[in-house]
Amino acid sequence: MTHLTLDKVSVHYDGQPAPAVERVSLDIGKSDSGRGDFVVLVGRSGCGKTSLLNVAAGLVEPAGGLATVDGRPITGPGSDRAVVFQNDALFPWLTARENVAFALRLRGVPADKRARRADELLSLVKLGDAGDKRIWELSGGMRQRVGLARALAAEPEFLLLDEPLGALDALTRERMQTTLLDLWAAAQVGVLMVTHGIEEALVLATRIVVLAPGPGHVVRTFETHFGRRYAAGEPIRAIKADPAFAAARAELTDAIFEGEAA
Ligand SMILES: Nc1ncnc2c1ncn2[C@@H]1O[C@H](COP(=O)(O)OP(=O)(O)O)[C@@H](O)[C@H]1O
Ligand SMILES: [Mg+2]
Repeated sequence: MTHLTLDKVSVHYDGQPAPAVERVSLDIGKSDSGRGDFVVLVGRSGCGKTSLLNVAAGLVEPAGGLATVDGRPITGPGSDRAVVFQNDALFPWLTARENVAFALRLRGVPADKRARRADELLSLVKLGDAGDKRIWELSGGMRQRVGLARALAAEPEFLLLDEPLGALDALTRERMQTTLLDLWAAAQVGVLMVTHGIEEALVLATRIVVLAPGPGHVVRTFETHFGRRYAAGEPIRAIKADPAFAAARAELTDAIFEGEAA
């Protein structure tokens, strides 16, 4: 098991009177033989979700506490952690395969191996037939899949996703949720993801961490099992129709809006 750990991490941006995040602890485990953790951060806007993801990515330095991978302090971005943002830039004039192959080239994968590996990664995100398509020919959901395939090219231990599905229409978004679960199950990565979708959090997470602002702190942690049920073969629609799912949604909604003035 490999662990990405934030231990009582605080974030304080230069020139700001108050910290953005105070003493947040998170742990994302990644197993070499089975599924890792799928940790989802939820909470109202401004509660520090992106700040925490950026600490994990090594883009923001904590003002207090410690961020580590297997005990080694995170001092910057690394190929062990791949980040996908909401509107990640692909090269529009290249094909899907070339976009992924570019990431492989940066990793030092020899030229003769790149195309095949790129196709394998595209298959993993269910874009096996689209390798020859140029980015401008692809829908938003397909582009986001290419972005995920490109992130996986680095063979990361952890995927860090900041509202990766936020720009997609509802139907595409639902389909991408199962793609993410398939990918999580197949690629054996640990995932830290930010979303503002309550249902999305429940469908995907093995653990949901609810944050509240002023400064950002953890108010609740839920261990959930809906994503594991999908990974074990249960249809997503059946899972969402389960009364336990509705109950969990109500409880999570309460936790997010608790303490907020009506
Ligand atoms: N680069 C920055 N400089 C100064 N303040 C920032 C910066 N990034 C975020 N903040 C502030 O930190 C708080 C948390 O922001 P953020 O992590 O983006 O929250 P979330 O992603 O949950 O909406 C907010 O008050 C935001 O305005
Ligand atoms: Mg954010």
